[in-house]
Amino acid sequence: QRSLKVALLGGGTVGSQVARILLDDADALAARVGARLELTGIAVRDVDAPRDVELPRELYTTDAQSLIDGADLVIELMGGIEPARTRILQALRRGASVVTGNKALLAADGAALFAEGERHGAELNFEAAVAGAIPIIRPIRESLSGDRITRVLGIVNGTTNFILDAMDTTGAQFADVLAEAQRLGYAEADPTADVEGHDAAAKAAILASLAFHTRVDLDAVRCEGITSVTAEDIAAAKDAGMTIKLLAIAELVRDASGTEGVSVRVHPTLLPRKHPLAAVHGAFNAVFVEAENAGSLMFYGAGAGGAPTASAIMGDVVSTARRVVAGGPGRVDTATRDLPMVGPDAITTSY
Ligand code: NAP
Ligand code: HSE
Repeated sequence: QRSLKVALLGGGTVGSQVARILLDDADALAARVGARLELTGIAVRDVDAPRDVELPRELYTTDAQSLIDGADLVIELMGGIEPARTRILQALRRGASVVTGNKALLAADGAALFAEGERHGAELNFEAAVAGAIPIIRPIRESLSGDRITRVLGIVNGTTNFILDAMDTTGAQFADVLAEAQRLGYAEADPTADVEGHDAAAKAAILASLAFHTRVDLDAVRCEGITSVTAEDIAAAKDAGMTIKLLAIAELVRDASGTEGVSVRVHPTLLPRKHPLAAVHGAFNAVFVEAENAGSLMFYGAGAGGAPTASAIMGDVVSTARRVVAGGPGRVDTATRDLPMVGPDAITTSY
């Protein structure tokens, strides 16, 4: 069977889970892709650093360049702008497709990266960049591409939702809850990006660009984080039957002269406790999409964390690898194994 060489750049919270899936589920993935996905190495800063996930030590390297040089597909999970940007460009210029979860980079410089990929016949896919495990990029980009989206609204940062939720339910202090969100692998390497709203703003810019088929610069996103939300604000909101959530809002609007434009903003918002978004707890995310013909759609699930985000990365890896194998549009998902049908008597699940 043919095999594809997969280079993994970054072996932290998400990268380590991606490596685990590539190794543990190798046979099932090979059946779905039509080729084996051979993990050739994991580029990190420190090969001797202690790791939460046990993986073969010989996979770790500091030589990202050599990994990229031999790769059919590159997964970028280092985060930040540099050297992630340079590494992605190196891969695309070699014609190797890239899968990334790096919303900061895409919001800052996505257009140049996509253009480079197109020049070299390589894809750059990024389902994991917005809302962790929730499929939201592909639905907006593909399923709704024949509709007219008018608004995207949601909770797109797990760390801040985790913090606000814990402050609301336990009355805990901001700093203690942030430390817990970091320990659980929800926060960015620099959690300022989360708590100041920059991570949500980057995601809002990406969603708005896709939803409205335009280019939304990160600088144009009005952004206010949660650092000035106090325990007293949350208690007062609670007394009034409300809750505070950090919302990202992107909508088509008309100015006074009737000219259509786009508004994209991120800020703490008071919501009635009966509002569906008030029921989004912990590091979960939810995204509402309003479209002229589809009406309202809601996407909900784990918005951060190693394994949930690795799920979204792996979805992109499988679909991208299928296209690489096919040398064009990839194979569609067909049966790759026989499973017996189970009768109703054997079902013990309760709902
Ligand atoms: P992380 O835990 O900080 O891991 C980063 C990894 O990249 C580490 O293994 C680090 O090496 C390696 N790295 C960093 N700079 C490097 C360099 N210059 N050269 C070589 N290796 C380098 O980050 P993460 O949480 O996995 O996030 C990775 C990406 O996914 C980010 O773009 C983030 O925004 C995105 N994302 C994260 C989540 C989440 O819930 N965590 C969700 C969605 C998207 P060392 O281990 O040696 O330090
Ligand atoms: N730090 C991000 C969050 C990770 O908390 O939502 C997921 O993108």
